[in-house]
Amino acid sequence: MNIVDLSRQRYTTKHYDKSKKIPASQLEQLLEVIRNSPSSVNSQPGHFFIIDNDQARNKIMPAIMEPNKARVANASHTLIFCVKSPLDDQHLQNLLAQEDKDGRFKTEEIKQMEDQGRRFFVNYNSANPQAQYEWESKQLYIVLGQLLFAATAIGVDSTPMEGFEKEKMDELLGLKQLGLKSVLVVTLGYRTVDDSNASRPKSRLPKEQLFTQL
Ligand SMILES: Cc1cc2nc3c(=O)[nH]c(=O)nc-3n(C[C@H](O)[C@H](O)[C@H](O)COP(=O)(O)O)c2cc1C
Repeated sequence: MNIVDLSRQRYTTKHYDKSKKIPASQLEQLLEVIRNSPSSVNSQPGHFFIIDNDQARNKIMPAIMEPNKARVANASHTLIFCVKSPLDDQHLQNLLAQEDKDGRFKTEEIKQMEDQGRRFFVNYNSANPQAQYEWESKQLYIVLGQLLFAATAIGVDSTPMEGFEKEKMDELLGLKQLGLKSVLVVTLGYRTVDDSNASRPKSRLPKEQLFTQL
């Protein structure tokens, strides 16, 4: 696997073939990549809704902006990336218990230090609810990057989307009652044979404008 080839091969899919579905085993792999994504202080603030049927697609469609609607309608799967809002004490306790269960702590002291360090950093980034939401959202953009790269590595096409109405999405999925807020939408599936974006040249600023060797 050549990582540069993969980075060139991945592109934002504009037209999906509705007849093609991601096999369950491959979807599982992608969900595992999401689960393994890193997050600041292992905060894991995300929750992800998986949509693979027309009833659920129709439910979220009013929140999807044009020209993204057809992408959601035809992609094999649509994921709604959400964050816990607020990131409450119960979540922090849950994280600590999971880390303990997974064997991360050799002593009780290390466990307490981990908890204190995380709480400090969460507070540091939570001056107000909006600041906390933005900090949590950054963690989900890391997930996005990992997911897009992993998808292309197994031949699955994707579209990251900010083109949706967050408040509308939250309302349609009843996210407030669940203590969640939407951040991103990602469609996954397979391009149509005539998806013109597939053959459009990639455009990126040259290396000299991007990197400075010190
Ligand atoms: C966070 C994010 C949000 C995006 N939102 C949309 C979107 O709503 N609809 C869309 O068609 N493309 C969307 N894009 C795709 C970008 O336009 C695309 O990544 C960029 O033009 C580079 O093209 P490439 O992905 O084909 O290399 C988004 C990309 C990112 C990373």
